[in-house]
Amino acid sequence: APAYITNQTNKAFGRDDRLDWDLLKSEIFSLTDEPTEVPLVINGEEVFSGREKAPIINPGNLKQTLGQYAKATPEDVDKAIQTSLEAKKEWANTSFADRASIFLKTAELITTKYRYKMLAATMLGQGKNVFQAEIDCIGELSDFLRLNTKWAAELYASQPEKAAQGVWNRVEYRPLEGFVYAVTPFNFVAIAGNLAGTPALMGNTVVWKPSDSSILSNYLVYKIFEEAGLPKGVINFIPGDPVLISEKVFSSSAFNALHFTGSTQVFRSLWGEIAKNVSEGVYKDFPRIVGETGGKNFHLIHRSADLENAVYNTLRGAFEFQGQKCSATSRCYVAQSIWPEFKKLLVEETEKIVPANTTSSEGLHSFLGPVIHERSFDKLAKGIDSIKSDPELQLLTGGKYNKSQGYFVQPTIVQTKNPSHKFMKQEFFGPLLTCYVYPDQQYEEVLALIDSTSQYGLTGSVFATDRSAIRLAEEKLRYAAGNFYINDKCTGAVVGQQCFGGSRASGTNDKAGSSHFVSRWVTPRAIKENF
Ligand code: SER
Repeated sequence: APAYITNQTNKAFGRDDRLDWDLLKSEIFSLTDEPTEVPLVINGEEVFSGREKAPIINPGNLKQTLGQYAKATPEDVDKAIQTSLEAKKEWANTSFADRASIFLKTAELITTKYRYKMLAATMLGQGKNVFQAEIDCIGELSDFLRLNTKWAAELYASQPEKAAQGVWNRVEYRPLEGFVYAVTPFNFVAIAGNLAGTPALMGNTVVWKPSDSSILSNYLVYKIFEEAGLPKGVINFIPGDPVLISEKVFSSSAFNALHFTGSTQVFRSLWGEIAKNVSEGVYKDFPRIVGETGGKNFHLIHRSADLENAVYNTLRGAFEFQGQKCSATSRCYVAQSIWPEFKKLLVEETEKIVPANTTSSEGLHSFLGPVIHERSFDKLAKGIDSIKSDPELQLLTGGKYNKSQGYFVQPTIVQTKNPSHKFMKQEFFGPLLTCYVYPDQQYEEVLALIDSTSQYGLTGSVFATDRSAIRLAEEKLRYAAGNFYINDKCTGAVVGQQCFGGSRASGTNDKAGSSHFVSRWVTPRAIKENF
């Protein structure tokens, strides 16, 4: 068996040498031993009693209730809005140094005092394995916090270069008027912290609706902001019914920005509601809308590709975190001449993966955990069931699922001869990869095909050693991916290295992890003064 792939994969997600496993186990134990009650936090006050509650469940062990969280009432949302407007008066006039120190201290606390608690909360609540948790809630989140602070300092320092005699020109980077609404996803704690935190770093106040499926880790992030010195009311943490909360928020004339990561469908509908209110003159401003949504991300394997590298990266791109990254590889185009060998290796390696509860002592070193919730499990199960009765699909491996203990779906690979099949277009958000084999000599045609079937434009990769094949892919797939990788998987953008985001149905492409991103949370004023 080609052991190289599994070894590398293990190496990538183990980090055994740097991790204190006993500390991790004790944090997991303490979070499972004592259920957590997650309140709403409005103006720094924790509100729990008298509210509807929902349970927090470990998706890898459905018998394990981790606690419960309170859901916001319409009055709570009103209060969160009022509070953020009140808190804004002082916060918007707080010096950048004072604001920055809070976010830098948050990063410090996350990477030191709270590292293991953050890992445990993310693993238990979201079914991540330890490596996926580490790169998310420790590495990426602290990178966002630290680098956004650096980029903000540079933005504030950037001033007009020219002035006529007797004139002083300057630019003031004002926070937005009103408040920011952050709607955050379950799949990355880093994204949640970035969406709620960055507008606040830039002097705004925020109403934060976290995902129901990442409450434990997101509440911990909120508490760390607070411990780092974030004043009351700057971020108001309000879990609950998304429709109820959004309706309330959008009906406020002080609503001024939506900061969203989630599905394309939800983003479209929120955009529609905002647009309707804009046309009716509900808001003072034209609200700013920054959103990152779905993807149907591709790997294109040219006949000149380094086969082992292509297989290894396809496995990681498709199946890490159970395929639940918006960037995950979910369609793969492979040159016919290398397909037999590619398929053999990929299937062999995939079959070594055994889904497990990553927070149990037996599952602690697992590559693959559960999918996030029953809705997602059922959608995947339905998709997998449809393979058997579909003459256009051939199951290569996987195809099993089981929710008796947790929401486990076996990594599944399908081949299709129809490049427009819905499996090549629809986002499943799970460990399901569809492959299409193309004749080697039709490389240009396959590039056109990928582009024309990419209604999303998030991420994609080409694997080739032939420079002209790489150049051609880069040129022809210009809009098919906002993050384009050459000889690497299409997941795992690093803050400050590859800024992240896509266009088409994948969002507004405002590039999280870049200096541009912080500028979205200010509204500049040009000032000219004559002497
Ligand atoms: N930024 C993540 C990645 O690149 C996805 O959100 O995988």
